[in-house]
Amino acid sequence: MKNIFLLLLSAAFMGVSCQSKKKPEKEKIVIGAKKEEKSPEFIKGEKLFKGKGNCYSCHRLDKKSVGPSTKTIMKIYKEQQGDIIGFLRQKKDPIVDPENYAVMKTNFARLAKFSDEELKLIAAYMNEVSE
Ligand code: HEC
Repeated sequence: MKNIFLLLLSAAFMGVSCQSKKKPEKEKIVIGAKKEEKSPEFIKGEKLFKGKGNCYSCHRLDKKSVGPSTKTIMKIYKEQQGDIIGFLRQKKDPIVDPENYAVMKTNFARLAKFSDEELKLIAAYMNEVSE
């Protein structure tokens, strides 16, 4: 029994030491990056908004579809100093189009599984893309 344990331990150790041989990734150096280039946070936020979050299927950038556009949402949130993350966590009431809140509500079960970091990225993306 003891031997088996030792064998497993050494196998695990070898696994670790093999992994550490990986070469460190080279850092990318961007020279003369343009201001309008997308930041890594923007790209992550966009992926969440259009992919995993599926928000884009109801929220276009500047025209209404099933839900209000991100521009409309952000305009109202800025004017009223709203808290998007609070809304997405169901801690704040809707302020944009409360009559259609039931449609937006269908997302909350899924959104509960998103980390705070992911919600922040989504909110930052919505803000940046609406400017
Ligand atoms: C099935 C369609 C649908 C999807 C998918 C959807 N929404 Fe919505 N959303 C709506 C509708 C309709 C409203 C308007 C009702 C309201 O204001 O709550 C809305 C409103 C909102 C509002 C404004 C809330 C307020 O204060 O009134 C925010 C912010 C928002 N959605 C974010 C998101 C995000 C982020 C996602 C992706 C995780 C998402 N929505 C996915 C339909 C959708």
